[in-house]
Amino acid sequence: MDELSGQLRIVEHELERCNHVLPIGVGLLPFVSKLEKALPVLEKFKPAVVWLFAANDFDDYKTWSARVREVTPRSKVWIQVGSVFAAVAVAKSCRPDVLVIQGIDAGGHGFEKGASIISLLPEVADTLAKHGFGDIPLVASGGIVDGRGAAAALALGAQGVVMGTRFLAAKETIIHPGYRTAVLAATDGGQSTVRAKIFDELRGPNIWPVLYDGRGLVTESYNDHAAGVDIAQIRSLHADALKSEHAGFGESRRATVWAGTGVGLVNRVQPAEDIVTEVRNGAFAALDRMKAKVIRIKAAVWSRIDSSGTASPRVIIQ
Ligand SMILES: Cc1cc2nc3c(=O)[nH]c(=O)nc-3n(C[C@H](O)[C@H](O)[C@H](O)COP(=O)(O)O)c2cc1C
Repeated sequence: MDELSGQLRIVEHELERCNHVLPIGVGLLPFVSKLEKALPVLEKFKPAVVWLFAANDFDDYKTWSARVREVTPRSKVWIQVGSVFAAVAVAKSCRPDVLVIQGIDAGGHGFEKGASIISLLPEVADTLAKHGFGDIPLVASGGIVDGRGAAAALALGAQGVVMGTRFLAAKETIIHPGYRTAVLAATDGGQSTVRAKIFDELRGPNIWPVLYDGRGLVTESYNDHAAGVDIAQIRSLHADALKSEHAGFGESRRATVWAGTGVGLVNRVQPAEDIVTEVRNGAFAALDRMKAKVIRIKAAVWSRIDSSGTASPRVIIQ
């Protein structure tokens, strides 16, 4: 919390408050963060968004969101979940201002069992509507790295998108240069990344709630685990690699590189502002192309109807 306060002091110095809140989000992990220590920081800095993810129990979000709202009522509470069940449970218990729907393509931690946002987000939307929570905005997360992905998420019914992996290549992101090099070099994300719990076992016993694992680049630590190497040996090799010149990011990589399946589309370092502008413009362009395509298809259908009197599915496929 001291480190967080230090970072927020910098933000406070750099950015003007907007509607009394600091225009930035703060992410907290309830399973490991101490609520009583977090509250004074949130009360002092009043971030625009308090983002919660990974509680030991879905009910913990109820306590967290209620207490956060008490100390900073203007901050919005966003909660990230990875299943229809969790979305409904969290909507019922704390009515978050936004639900972030995380699909299985996401980099970093997420639900071990899951679906991609292509089926998850629409089912969440329909089920929430059925339970009377259709007014909670949904934001899509997992595998979105460019305007095409963002446009697809909007088409699925999302109000916005979250990107993690893409920002690993932002100039401002503070990561080890070897980490960034690995992200930029990776291709074919479905093959070069993997979801696994072993990544959380490397420094000692896994402390994450059982529901979660994480997606990262395939590493030697992962390969050893898959080959049945004893965990004590994997940990020892990992610890040695971290102390080496390349900090475990060298040729036979042992350090964890959290990244999503979209990693193959991330191939250059850019300022964060440029990433946001590029993705936004790319989404508009993709939506325009989609609209133009639909208009062309409709025109084709109508021209066939004009000549034959009926529209056949074959015409629609054309
Ligand atoms: C390096 C990395 C670190 C992450 N750390 C967190 C975190 O601390 N808290 C959190 O809620 N999500 C975290 N995430 C997950 C993101 O919230 C988000 O779900 C994910 O990045 C979206 O998928 P994408 O990586 O394909 O864009 C992290 C993701 C990455 C790649």
